[in-house]
Amino acid sequence: MAIDLHISPNLQRLSQEIEISIFRIVQECLTNVHRHSGSNRANIHISEKRNQLLLTIRDYGKGISPELLEGASLIPASSGVGLRGITERVRELGGEFQIRPASPGTIVQVVLPAVARADVDDLADHKETAGRVKAKGNSA
Ligand SMILES: Nc1ncnc2c1ncn2[C@@H]1O[C@H](COP(=O)(O)OP(=O)(O)O)[C@@H](O)[C@H]1O
Ligand SMILES: [Mg+2]
Repeated sequence: MAIDLHISPNLQRLSQEIEISIFRIVQECLTNVHRHSGSNRANIHISEKRNQLLLTIRDYGKGISPELLEGASLIPASSGVGLRGITERVRELGGEFQIRPASPGTIVQVVLPAVARADVDDLADHKETAGRVKAKGNSA
């Protein structure tokens, strides 16, 4: 499959949780493109704007059936775990998930809070320092 990958140059390292989620979502979507769309090419865009991570995966295949695209019934129990899994993962992270028709093909769009890796490291440092201070206080 020919993949056209665009990653905006300003993209920073994000929290491990967010990076792994991006990886899993792309993995599932490309599997879907390969299995269901009939398309032999896909575009992936990853960018960051105003502290939001934007991810889109587009294919040029036969498109997704209208029943699957309908509002709340988007992810019925009868559908595979893939799209439902993505929806749940994105919701847990406080993001948004959308799947819609393109002409031709399908576009999956995901918005996630862009939690920078540096912020998470800072947080871990603070916790560690707080722990040391506390331990020292206890032993005194
Ligand atoms: N890129 C796509 N193009 C066409 N149909 C798709 C695409 N992605 C998903 N679908 C449709 O949505 C259904 C649900 O997808 P998913 O939840 O990943 O389950 P699974 O891949 O296990 O069938 C698929 O069975 C397929 O009919
Ligand atoms: Mg799938």
